Amino acid sequence: MRRVSIFGSTGSIGENTVDLIARAPGEFRVVALSGGHNVDRLAEQAIALDAEIAVTAVPDLKQRLADRLSGSGTEAAAGPEALVEAARRPADWVMSAIVGAAGLRPGLAAVEQGATLALANKESLVCAGELLLRIARAHDAAVLPVDSEHSAVFQALAGEDIAAVERVILTASGGAFRDWPIEDLVRATPEQAATHPNWDMGRRITVDSASMFNKALELIETNEYFGIKPKQIEVVVHPQSLVHALVGFRDGALMAHVGPPDMRHAIGYALNHPQRRALPVERLDLVRIGRLDFREASETRWPALRLAREVMRLRGLAGAAFNAAKETALDAFLAREIRFTDMAAVVEETLEAMHRENALKCDRMGLDQVMETDHVARERAAQVVAQIRTDA
Ligand SMILES: NC(=O)c1ccc[n+]([C@@H]2O[C@H](COP(=O)([O-])OP(=O)(O)OC[C@H]3O[C@@H](n4cnc5c(N)ncnc54)[C@H](OP(=O)(O)O)[C@@H]3O)[C@@H](O)[C@H]2O)c1
Repeated sequence: MRRVSIFGSTGSIGENTVDLIARAPGEFRVVALSGGHNVDRLAEQAIALDAEIAVTAVPDLKQRLADRLSGSGTEAAAGPEALVEAARRPADWVMSAIVGAAGLRPGLAAVEQGATLALANKESLVCAGELLLRIARAHDAAVLPVDSEHSAVFQALAGEDIAAVERVILTASGGAFRDWPIEDLVRATPEQAATHPNWDMGRRITVDSASMFNKALELIETNEYFGIKPKQIEVVVHPQSLVHALVGFRDGALMAHVGPPDMRHAIGYALNHPQRRALPVERLDLVRIGRLDFREASETRWPALRLAREVMRLRGLAGAAFNAAKETALDAFLAREIRFTDMAAVVEETLEAMHRENALKCDRMGLDQVMETDHVARERAAQVVAQIRTDA
């Protein structure tokens, strides 16, 4: 039986992963599951899958989790260190589906013990791609992309020579505001931003889709994971979210990955890799769909795309600073402290300040440097948020 762990099991990716595992009784031994605040659901999952250990990231919730698990045989643990400890437990396959930079350390611990890492947590690659991939190589651990666009690129590249790739095209739904007049964006509310036209995802990534910060993270992720040069990576708006990405080769061929907007495809591909096994996803009826539309992804409407290009130019610790500033700006927007359109300004000013202070350079990335950059960027971004509130 394959030993599997799911970090972030109570979230949108986590639930989809649990669904696939639960459909294959007898094939998997579940080692660890983790969640944050939703300990009731975490306990339910742990009991249903007979997990060895369930970990909540929130120390205060340990007793509640232990009570829910009482008599089940599943161990209860809590806190960020317990997450890392759980990721060190021997497993063949580990899903990294915690949201934000908090997913980095458990992911690193998983590859250090040689597990195959199914990586939904794009922030790990953005903040510390070089470090994560270096450690994975050193421990002979595979890292498989689970973001739908990167899974699509990965599948289009199977059996191909990466040197023959001319360009990668990432598609973006355009999020909640893709058809709004640009001048109305300043009044967009968190509730409006958290509604996605096609995908059912966690709240934070849904708002990041509306601002295109999600696509910005994916641009950087493509650069880090596949080593594709920034100028070879394009973004187009594709309102139907059926074509997940395209890879263009030097002979002019364009290979597209087409499928329904259901993350169980990308998760299942990573779970079954290198095999393809039947998955419970909708089969597309092309005649009913009728057409596929593509539009320009404007960097004026979505400045996050321009900032991602700046991050790829700066390299080093710029990704860690970018992600931390983005997370701080997102928290401030969700708390109604700043406007939707202020988020890009917070990230841009944070990056500029840290670049001026020479704080983004590094020769060989280490975890301490990444964590320190994350910390400093959050402080800087909070100062920019405070300034915006004073000026308002
Ligand atoms: N959803 C998608 O379709 C999708 C697609 C591609 C990539 N991704 C990426 O996958 C990751 C997860 O996304 P999601 O949409 O599944 O997010 P989500 O629904 O918000 O779930 C996040 C998970 O992380 C846990 N969590 C939150 N804060 C944490 C912390 N500080 N420490 C440890 N655990 C924490 C949550 O626990 P509680 O809920 O119990 O608090 C939950 O289990 C993100 O990096 C996202 O960018 C998601």
